[in-house]
Amino acid sequence: MTSQESTTKLVTVEEYVAARAGAGLAEVFGAIAVAARQIERKIRLAGLGDLYGGGSIYGAAGAVNVQGEQQQKLDVFANDLLTQLLGESSHVAAIVSEEDEGPVEFEHGGGRNPAAEFVVVFDPLDGSSNIDVNVNVGTIFSVVRLVGDVVASVLKPGTEQAAAGYVLYGPSAVMVMTIGSGVAAFTLDEDERFVLTAEGMRMPEQGPYYSANEANAGSWPEVYREFVGGLVAGELGGQEYGSRYIGSLVADFHRTLLKGGVFLYPPTKKAPRGKLRLLYEAYPLAMVAEQAGGAAVDGESRLLEVRAAGIHDRTPLVIGSRTEVEALRKAVQKTAEEVE
Ligand code: F6P
Repeated sequence: MTSQESTTKLVTVEEYVAARAGAGLAEVFGAIAVAARQIERKIRLAGLGDLYGGGSIYGAAGAVNVQGEQQQKLDVFANDLLTQLLGESSHVAAIVSEEDEGPVEFEHGGGRNPAAEFVVVFDPLDGSSNIDVNVNVGTIFSVVRLVGDVVASVLKPGTEQAAAGYVLYGPSAVMVMTIGSGVAAFTLDEDERFVLTAEGMRMPEQGPYYSANEANAGSWPEVYREFVGGLVAGELGGQEYGSRYIGSLVADFHRTLLKGGVFLYPPTKKAPRGKLRLLYEAYPLAMVAEQAGGAAVDGESRLLEVRAAGIHDRTPLVIGSRTEVEALRKAVQKTAEEVE
């Protein structure tokens, strides 16, 4: 039975948002959904590029982005598409992307549209090391209200986000989002619509896995090593943790949301202020986590209250089930107090 033949009333992400947050935000989600389904298709068919004469979409694009990272062709494709489609929405004043040095502001009919009340901040294709190897990647987005200047609007704390979410391109493509009243998931169906498949999602209070790039453990602050050691040893509620690490934040977070546990990317010697980006990786996922009953910190502080000084700022990130995140936060706080 195709989704068209289904007897259940399907709710698309655009309909879901329109009913709860109005037409403006629904249009923003509509643009993200259209971009996501084209990105999904490009990724799904990427291996066939050479065969069908289109040329390979895998590999480096030849340029280096503002982060100093090699841009992949799929990064560029996803970035251009999201920028174009969001720019066509009269409700979007500007975008801020991982791939661009500064904001891209849109003019509608010769000037900024007074109805353009949103700025969309995104990482067009997260998980760059997995792009070419057919492993999960994702798009992460955050929607903020435009209040005066674009940069000032996006540098507000993460608590001010109007909406946030991600699309995971995996065995199925799933958009997980929040508009500030719980978390819902939409799965891309055969008719290329993101349809509601889960509502009121809750992250387990405690989970079975920790997720971290343990090759960096030698350069983490001691408190993180002790914390992970304690999880393995069953010191947190008697449970012995397993380890899972994909290396795509969206995929590692999605598993953590569904199964519980903790994802951590602590400070390292190479990246003492963290590796992950505050505005378009940590803030949106932290909003989703909190809305699902989980938590996120930068170590000691609630992540959504950490302030960015620049649009590409980085942060340490510990995100997941409340029990683990709170235990880590207390340990980091205790260490900081002992040092003082
Ligand atoms: O920020 C990009 C990213 O690829 C994330 O998706 C992922 O969590 C992280 O970097 C992986 O970093 P590393 O390769 O250092 O483990």
